Amino acid sequence: MRAVIYEQFGGPDVLTMIEIPEPSPCHDEVQVRVLAVAVDFIELHKRHGGSGRVGSPEEPSYGIGAPPWFPGGTACVEIIGLGSSVSGLSVGDRHLVGGLHPGAYVDIAVLPATKLTAGTPEAPGPTAFPESLTPTEAAAFNYAPVAYHTLRTTAGLKAGETVLIHAASGGTGVLAVQLAKHFGATVIGVVGSSHKVDPILALGADYVLNSETDDIASEVARLTRATGPNVVWDPVGGDTFTTSPDLMAEGGRLVSLGSNSFTGAATVDFLPFWTKNIRLIGWGGRSNNDAHAPSIMRDLLTLVTAQQLRPIVGAEYSLHQASNAHAAVESRQHVGKVVLVP
Ligand SMILES: NC(=O)c1ccc[n+]([C@@H]2O[C@H](COP(=O)([O-])OP(=O)(O)OC[C@H]3O[C@@H](n4cnc5c(N)ncnc54)[C@H](OP(=O)(O)O)[C@@H]3O)[C@@H](O)[C@H]2O)c1
Repeated sequence: MRAVIYEQFGGPDVLTMIEIPEPSPCHDEVQVRVLAVAVDFIELHKRHGGSGRVGSPEEPSYGIGAPPWFPGGTACVEIIGLGSSVSGLSVGDRHLVGGLHPGAYVDIAVLPATKLTAGTPEAPGPTAFPESLTPTEAAAFNYAPVAYHTLRTTAGLKAGETVLIHAASGGTGVLAVQLAKHFGATVIGVVGSSHKVDPILALGADYVLNSETDDIASEVARLTRATGPNVVWDPVGGDTFTTSPDLMAEGGRLVSLGSNSFTGAATVDFLPFWTKNIRLIGWGGRSNNDAHAPSIMRDLLTLVTAQQLRPIVGAEYSLHQASNAHAAVESRQHVGKVVLVP
């Protein structure tokens, strides 16, 4: 079977495809076919050899990702084989799940059966597959819990408030825009090029700014009549993070969820935190057990079924084009999630 691997840290070109034997499930494992896998930004960090903060090949982030490495995070999979002691799962079941061996940019993988918990329609589990979606859309939907938690659980975004959404065109950003509107907020999206403005307006954003041509601080002040947004949603970091507190409203919440700028460190002026009672909140799905709480999964799946929440697939690439897919994300080409389809 085919598997994408990198044998040294570096740019997208270090991703190559090799042929390896199909993994067989142990007694307590399932064998799955990968139907689609989203390119998660964290895979770019790993491939480069760091998270931005710990950026050297000698000291890879998270202690994972050191070559030789089979990349890939959460995938949309279909069960094709069951270990001898596995019960409660069936061949043909579809799940959204991470922790695949050898990786997720592969044709076929194995994983512990205990990782697959689809739950019931009333109480969906973390790996529930949204039945109304295609596998590529489902791979893009995987980021909905992140968008939900970062806006609602952590930042407490409320109806009537204003949220500034950076990287609004990203795979998580497009979901954050839609959810923020669903929560009744006024949404100011930020994108990095002019061709992304209209698609984000079409998703419901009230205003979309272009970081290449607009002075974000003065435009945000103008649009909020100098009040500033109540919530800033920041998956970019670096300068974006540094400039945020100054433009925020009294009592604002600044949510940091990633580092698309590849800069894990940022300069912080604490004065606006003190004078405006701003709160800084980090979010990491990995370290949060409530990330896929059944009540939240149910709400999100209901919104998807009602077509009130649309995962956006920016582009599909086949497995042998994995390096092109990573290059596309890194060069900020698409609106929505870039998805690999084995
Ligand atoms: N904490 C968590 O649990 C968690 C979970 C999932 C994702 N995340 C993080 O959330 C962030 C967004 O994830 P995502 O999967 O939605 O990302 P994505 O789809 O890959 O987002 C890519 C977009 O980010 C924007 N961007 C801004 N500066 C960039 C730069 N220097 N290089 C490349 N792109 C840049 C680009 O949009 P413009 O060109 O329009 O600016 C680009 O289209 C990532 O940092 C990811 O690691 C965190």
